[in-house]
Amino acid sequence: MTAPAMVAEFDDVAAWTADAVAQLGAEHAIPAACRGSASPAALAWLAEACELAPGTRLLDVGAGAGGPAAWAARRFGVRPVLLDPMPAACRAAARMFGLPVVLASGTRIPLRAGSMDAAWCLGVLCTVADKAGLLREVHRVLRPGASLGLLVVVAHDPRAPAVPDGNLFPTQAELSDLLDEAGFDLVEQIDRPGDAPLSWSRRAARVAEVVATRHRADRAYALAARQSESFTRLFDSGQISMQLIHAVRRWAALTRAEET
Ligand SMILES: C[S@@+](CC[C@H](N)C(=O)[O-])C[C@H]1O[C@@H](n2cnc3c(N)ncnc32)[C@H](O)[C@@H]1O
Repeated sequence: MTAPAMVAEFDDVAAWTADAVAQLGAEHAIPAACRGSASPAALAWLAEACELAPGTRLLDVGAGAGGPAAWAARRFGVRPVLLDPMPAACRAAARMFGLPVVLASGTRIPLRAGSMDAAWCLGVLCTVADKAGLLREVHRVLRPGASLGLLVVVAHDPRAPAVPDGNLFPTQAELSDLLDEAGFDLVEQIDRPGDAPLSWSRRAARVAEVVATRHRADRAYALAARQSESFTRLFDSGQISMQLIHAVRRWAALTRAEET
């Protein structure tokens, strides 16, 4: 079951974001709709690592309000498909960017096997209990040799820190095993991809101000704000960190599960 704080953070705030963008102007949409904390530098690293190009069929699993996929469409000419289980987030993404959106969980992706050229999954794995199931599904819908770009928040202490509601951070070792078992080779991994420039963060901040002004009294706003404060505390204390990963779907892809 999805924690109420996650519904607030991913669904309610997504809808409010689309409303605020409608008031402020479309140039605010992409920075405000990157809810997995990816900066332009992080997105560029992932796009280059995955060798995105005009026409690439990019599946964004857990696309949220759609900022990263819209950025990839605009900067790299990809043809994105957005997938998210939160209805208001899907509506917000469709409204702000007019991109194809699928309302579904990443653990049951309603797409044909081998139908996508690349996938992104940004800030999603730590919100999903069945990480192995999600990665297996992403593996199934990717063509052999396709790239997977991940932004993952990892825990540095295997004893889980006091996490924000609903989050289950993998450790680095768990993450590496999960990728391997799902049939992915980890090609490269970095942290500290670089901060967003002011031109970007100012637009995101303006949207956040409008959302705060309109919804500060809502219970969902308080829940989402508490989530975000917990994240900041965990990052600041060094208990968790953000990792960018480029992995590739193995060709002769017998997963460990298939081998047994
Ligand atoms: C931190 S947000 C990141 C959104 C987006 N990837 C971005 O970077 O802006 C995490 C997203 O994961 C989605 N999510 C949660 N459970 C999921 C699942 N089982 N399958 C796919 N997405 C899921 C949430 O609805 C939310 O939109």
